[in-house]
Amino acid sequence: MSTNILNVKDLVIHYETDEEVVEAVNNISFEIKKGEVLGLVGETGAGKTTTALGIMGLLPDKVGHVIQGSVELEGENLFDKSAREMRKVRGKKISMIFQDPMTALNPVKPVGDQIAEVILLHDRCSKAEALQRAQKMLAMVGIVPERYKDYPHQFSGGMKQRIVIAIALACEPELLIADEPTTALDVTIQAQILDMMRSLQQKQGTSMILITHDLGVVAEMCDHCAVMYAGELVEYGTVEEVFDHPKHPYTKALYQSIPSLDKDVKRLRVVPGMVTDPSKLPCCCSFADRCTEKCEQCESGDPRIVNVNEEHWVKCFNYRAEKEEK
Ligand SMILES: Nc1ncnc2c1ncn2[C@@H]1O[C@H](COP(=O)(O)OP(=O)(O)OP(=O)(O)O)[C@@H](O)[C@H]1O
Ligand SMILES: [Mg+2]
Repeated sequence: MSTNILNVKDLVIHYETDEEVVEAVNNISFEIKKGEVLGLVGETGAGKTTTALGIMGLLPDKVGHVIQGSVELEGENLFDKSAREMRKVRGKKISMIFQDPMTALNPVKPVGDQIAEVILLHDRCSKAEALQRAQKMLAMVGIVPERYKDYPHQFSGGMKQRIVIAIALACEPELLIADEPTTALDVTIQAQILDMMRSLQQKQGTSMILITHDLGVVAEMCDHCAVMYAGELVEYGTVEEVFDHPKHPYTKALYQSIPSLDKDVKRLRVVPGMVTDPSKLPCCCSFADRCTEKCEQCESGDPRIVNVNEEHWVKCFNYRAEKEEK
């Protein structure tokens, strides 16, 4: 039996409005093993949140459409499930921490009740038991359980984020999708929250997709890394492989734009140009007009995926040519 918890295959998602069609996710495939943490990185507008919402079955009504592909959770295609069945999957099997956690809490409900609500929805237990478990979850994320009666506005930003994490982990989901979970927080709290997520993830054996702009966070937290550009995955591999031997010019450019403590650099490198507009995608390589390594082929065709090794692949003509030359 496969040890994959999640298999995403050939996923295509469009947003269709009266004015345009936004090709937000273009034919992406990836898998996650039990207990593994996958870092999903890429510039703003790359399609990271859309991928997550697609997996959760939470694309905006009428506008967001899965055009093609499948998302299998423990071998079951989530796209075959009814809305009712999906409500049972969310929270219990997959949980998501949304990009803007500060708005994820209900301002007029005590936080303990908000955690207990999720537990009651998914697990058969009494209200008293659910509240007791909610208090235990609060303690787990470092908040004194006695505060379960307090309302969200009585907590600091970092504490609210911990509560959001407690809600996401309350039913011990198999898969946690964390969309920029610490972007809204200051750096010291960021490190604390990430440490806490990592230890809870290890304790519960949860698999995780961690969406972030921060490559440092990927290095610290993730086993694998997937780099997304204009709705496509352009490189994928173990964190060691992708960080130490990046092959795609976009991945290389991302690394060169990280500040380094050992090198005395006056100005950081930037990735030239603007992110490709997903409503006007070219039929060639979508990174071609920003690429410093492009060749003739890059402006005429769409590259295929080439394996660098068993656990590392890249979607780039240049690497293919380099490999064939050897
Ligand atoms: N409801 C929507 N209607 C139309 N287009 C949308 C909608 N939501 C997102 N998009 C577009 O889809 C593309 C992908 O957006 P998405 O939010 O997935 O990017 P992202 O990688 O999460 O970016 P960020 O890092 O800024 O969070 C963008 O071009 C965005 O403008
Ligand atoms: Mg996003």
